[in-house]
Amino acid sequence: MATDLSTPSTPDTAERPLLDTLTAIRTRRAVKEYDPTPIPREWIEELLDAARWAPNHRLTHPWRFNVFMGEGREKLVKARQDAVRLQAQQKGKEVTPEELEFARQKVYSAPVLVIVSQVLSDDPITRKEDYAACWCAVQNFLLAATARGLASYPSTGAWIDQNTIGPVIGLPENEVPVACIFLGYSKAPTAAKRFSWERHTRWFDQAD
Ligand SMILES: Cc1cc2nc3c(=O)[nH]c(=O)nc-3n(C[C@H](O)[C@H](O)[C@H](O)COP(=O)(O)O)c2cc1C
Repeated sequence: MATDLSTPSTPDTAERPLLDTLTAIRTRRAVKEYDPTPIPREWIEELLDAARWAPNHRLTHPWRFNVFMGEGREKLVKARQDAVRLQAQQKGKEVTPEELEFARQKVYSAPVLVIVSQVLSDDPITRKEDYAACWCAVQNFLLAATARGLASYPSTGAWIDQNTIGPVIGLPENEVPVACIFLGYSKAPTAAKRFSWERHTRWFDQAD
């Protein structure tokens, strides 16, 4: 199926929502279906600004944000298809045209994709902390998006894990992807499922 690269009109920027923090936390959901409506660059910049305020031990600033939109997404098609080929090869199978087309469609399923990558420290503990900090940055981004009425979801998978992205976009040797954030408008219904916090909480308020 051909991918539609035409540019729909940008929405009116007036009267954007701004949810309070707890409402954004409670209402953020992983959304998988997006409208093709482009997102203005300054709106994405606001989310990136929120991301960088994530907690970060020793202020290593381990995160890098690689933003793909419009035809720039074509680079990610190659990365994602390379992962599909690699996986098939590892299983001793032939890659199918359907698998390659699914990879393409996933990339074009949202108007904006952000690959969050991590600069790898030589120190193993810092490396672990930095990975966590990168995910804190991802969550800040998702919550800011929710607060602004945008849908999103973070994803991982083989193409992130096996870093087929690095060679395609020229990531430095010491930098690896940790997540791909999908971002856009959506009218797709979502459902929240969580156990109560009581079920997973232990309280310690006595000496013995
Ligand atoms: C570390 C991490 C990796 C994830 N990877 C994927 C993924 O590869 N594909 C996907 O569809 N969702 C992925 N998700 C999203 C979760 O599936 C989603 O958060 C979960 O279903 C709960 O739904 P909710 O976020 O709407 O509450 C990931 C979430 C996290 C935290």
